[in-house]
Amino acid sequence: MKTLNSPKTSPLIQRLQWVFNPLEYMETNVKINRDIFNTQVTGSVGLIFVNSPEGMQELLTRDTKEFYAPGSINEILKPLLGEQSVILLDGDRHKRQRKLLMPPFHGERMRNYGELILNITQQATAKLKPGKPFIARNTMQEITLAVILQAVFWVFEGSRYDELKQLITSLLAVTDSPISSSLLFFTSLQKDWGAWSPWGRFLRMRKKVDELLFAEINERRQNWDETRTDILNLMMAARDEDGQPMTDEELRDELLTLLFAGHETTATAMAWALYWVHRQPEVYQKLIQELESLPKNADPMTIFRLPYLTAVCNEALRIYPVAMLTFPRVTKEQTELLGYQLEPNVGVAGCIYLLHHREDLYPEPKQFKPERFLERKFSPYEFLPFGSGARQCIGMALAQFEMKLALAQIILDYDLTLLEKRPVKAGRRGVTLSPLGGIKMMMNGKRTPSKSVAIPATV
Ligand code: HEM
Repeated sequence: MKTLNSPKTSPLIQRLQWVFNPLEYMETNVKINRDIFNTQVTGSVGLIFVNSPEGMQELLTRDTKEFYAPGSINEILKPLLGEQSVILLDGDRHKRQRKLLMPPFHGERMRNYGELILNITQQATAKLKPGKPFIARNTMQEITLAVILQAVFWVFEGSRYDELKQLITSLLAVTDSPISSSLLFFTSLQKDWGAWSPWGRFLRMRKKVDELLFAEINERRQNWDETRTDILNLMMAARDEDGQPMTDEELRDELLTLLFAGHETTATAMAWALYWVHRQPEVYQKLIQELESLPKNADPMTIFRLPYLTAVCNEALRIYPVAMLTFPRVTKEQTELLGYQLEPNVGVAGCIYLLHHREDLYPEPKQFKPERFLERKFSPYEFLPFGSGARQCIGMALAQFEMKLALAQIILDYDLTLLEKRPVKAGRRGVTLSPLGGIKMMMNGKRTPSKSVAIPATV
């Protein structure tokens, strides 16, 4: 039986490297131990990183058998999301909750959201001023927050919606910086010393959010309208195997989970895509050519299926995957992975970043080359920006739809310039990999189309 290698540095140094320079940490260690290695990034207990397609497949197809996908690992999110959030559950309760949550996110439901995404993109980009710089990630986040809020509630204005939008933005700001997120990491700081203390403020905002969400759920129960197809209605209509619906608390926690998991990640992916397209003129040319070839009033699904647009978005998700790791899986019993023997209770994460940077799968992995996705079909264990198995991303179809439609709309509408002279670096933002500085761009004006176009949205 082979022995698993570990980096020689101390757990503390590893943890610091993982927090402050995760790409260097992964790239240094994979040179020594190619497909799988042990780490101490979460402390001395250890977390194994696996990054070969075979390893990913062995892990993620057995994550309800010899492995499980624990929710308790995400315990720190409890104050934000509530204890019934799908992210915090495991076993049968997790399975039930995922089943109840999935219907609004199936591919065919995406039709509902197409016009919405295009309209919101138009509204957000209409605020850009010609000749004035803007931070791409912020504009993208404005789009994705509006999309998820409106897809969830299908409410476009009104005091409840506005208040909720503001509160959610302030609550999520808790995860923005290392200082503010220390409130979640260090439970000793979680003391309510009144409305002006950081935790007191957090609790009061959280209570207000609860009130608004419960008021919305209540109103809908009173005046049930089965023709509504927004995410909240679909969640309220869903029944488990025993015919039971979600409780109000479950609905509240899942709503917060979707709002939380659904917009920062997608905004980052969209900002990267915008960056690469404007950094490489040949990519821009090919993309604009494809977009301009669309028939007049093309429907959102036609845009979604465009091959080059799809390749550009996939390549953006490959080169800097927003999630560097899958959620950890843990061994239930003694088992083997890639020929290594693992004891019970050992944590293993799929290392998406290292998988996506393997030379044998992606020659010249540091180069942005959408063509690789046209020349070859990658298996679900070779390209997995959304994970796989028991915890595969619930919003995968929505995120891809959003990315493609927003990118198409922006590129067709505006002439933009990238204001970054040097390559933008990727760095940690919470648990995600994000462009440092957010990507500075400038809108020069409306683009002059080379022929009449295409996208149908009207505000
Ligand atoms: C580009 C955007 C996104 C990326 C890259 C992404 C990536 C991921 C990844 C890697 C996982 C863990 C998978 C695993 O462990 O196997 C995950 C889980 C999850 N994602 Fe996403 N995600 C994105 C957008 C979204 C959106 C739009 C939503 C919801 C509207 C969402 C909701 C979730 C939820 C609820 C989970 C937890 C699932 C569970 O615990 O069973 N994500 N995502």
